[in-house]
Amino acid sequence: MKPFHVSRRTFLQRCATVAAMSGLPLWYVERSLAAAAEPAKKVAANDRPGIALIGAGGQGTRDAQNAAGWGEVVAVCDVDEKRAAAAVEKLTVDGRAPKVYRDFRRVLERDDVHVLVNGTPDHWHTLVNLGAARAKKDVYAEKPLTLTIDEGRRLVSAVKQSGIVLQTGTQQRSSPRFRLACELVRNQRIGKLQRAKVWLPAGLREGPFKTAAVPQELDWDFWQGPARKVDYVPERCHRTFRFWYDYSGGTMTDWGAHHNDIAYWAIGILAPREVASRVLTEPVPGGYDTFAEYEVNYTYANGVKLDILTTKDDSIYGAKVNADGQRNGIRFEGTEGWIWVNRDGISASDPALLKAPLPENAVRLTTSNNHMENFFDCVKSRQAPICDVETGHRSATMCHLGAISMRTRRALTWDAAQERFVGESAREANAHVARELRAPYDYSFVG
Ligand SMILES: NC(=O)c1ccc[n+]([C@@H]2O[C@H](COP(=O)([O-])OP(=O)(O)OC[C@H]3O[C@@H](n4cnc5c(N)ncnc54)[C@H](O)[C@@H]3O)[C@@H](O)[C@H]2O)c1
Repeated sequence: MKPFHVSRRTFLQRCATVAAMSGLPLWYVERSLAAAAEPAKKVAANDRPGIALIGAGGQGTRDAQNAAGWGEVVAVCDVDEKRAAAAVEKLTVDGRAPKVYRDFRRVLERDDVHVLVNGTPDHWHTLVNLGAARAKKDVYAEKPLTLTIDEGRRLVSAVKQSGIVLQTGTQQRSSPRFRLACELVRNQRIGKLQRAKVWLPAGLREGPFKTAAVPQELDWDFWQGPARKVDYVPERCHRTFRFWYDYSGGTMTDWGAHHNDIAYWAIGILAPREVASRVLTEPVPGGYDTFAEYEVNYTYANGVKLDILTTKDDSIYGAKVNADGQRNGIRFEGTEGWIWVNRDGISASDPALLKAPLPENAVRLTTSNNHMENFFDCVKSRQAPICDVETGHRSATMCHLGAISMRTRRALTWDAAQERFVGESAREANAHVARELRAPYDYSFVG
């Protein structure tokens, strides 16, 4: 194998540098870089897909800037004019400014739009993604993929039927560090896996909030879309929408979408069988209504446990350093040791656990070292990307199960094949598997 068309010597030097900078073991860096496909060529101007950004907030704009390495951003859509204008400024290249839209359905009508970046808040994800499937546009779909489990099932079937490429924006799957942790766990480097612990940042516990006049630039009705209609409260809208169940699920679905996805990858089982929870702090009346501090406990059919814990030692937007597994990240515990991993590092009960290379016949997980590149590779090849729709749906489901247990304050049993709760309290819990969509923003909106 001749990676990147460079000499062996240059390749080894490059690996040594990457290993030193990332803290990853050299054997693993060598293997990862060698296994990775050649970096997607930045395609010629006439071969660049047209990209549209739907939801031009912080993350959508960053994603679109990233996507611009593989295509041309020709449209920006937001229900807030100021946000659209700010994104256009950032996405204008050589004087070519993307056209602005308020209604994403008009974007879907354009033949020169091939790819969508969906950076809307969670309560809009599914309708935009379904619209993409119906219009046969590929989509880089921000996480958590859905607001409800029922939405996920509908989306999986629409994506499969349409043949579009959908990449879920859980980019930790394209990080060599998280992949290494999962491969070591899958290959029993820590013995038999017994328990995983996921630490998520505690959410915000604030309020009560006051209603305010709707800013002129914002179409508040459109922003609320399928969610129930309420008066405008600034804290419900941009960025902090994630702390309201109307639009999201608190840190359980926000950071949980990332770390639970990694736990799912390492454990390798579709879904837990049992879920129980403990709410540790109650929301402030009239304030954010998602739970800020909580504990969720999952049990898999093979006896493996997964605990979700919140930590206040962390800011909500940053995963910070950890030495002993007490902050935002994931710890895998087996009969012969543990591995801790987060965005800042990887460590183990014994450093030798990381250092010894895995044998040639070891279980290998799909290699992607760049999430957006993997998406555009698949846009070309029509293969399934690393976080395809089913994967995104299943890791979002893990988060939703925890949120439903907290909201019903019940211990629940999940049937992953039927995607329904069974047993005691099933009826109450199943009422949260789907949500009513407010007209006209129901499924017919994109049908
Ligand atoms: N992958 C990551 O690491 C990562 C990081 C941050 C956020 N996210 C995800 O990205 C999404 C956006 O998060 P954010 O922090 O950028 O939120 P944000 O509130 O800053 O941006 C969302 C934007 O979408 C717009 N919008 C709402 N409804 C719309 C509609 N129907 N059509 C067009 N535009 C619409 C809003 O006006 C806003 O400008 C969330 O789902 C979040 O979970 C992912």
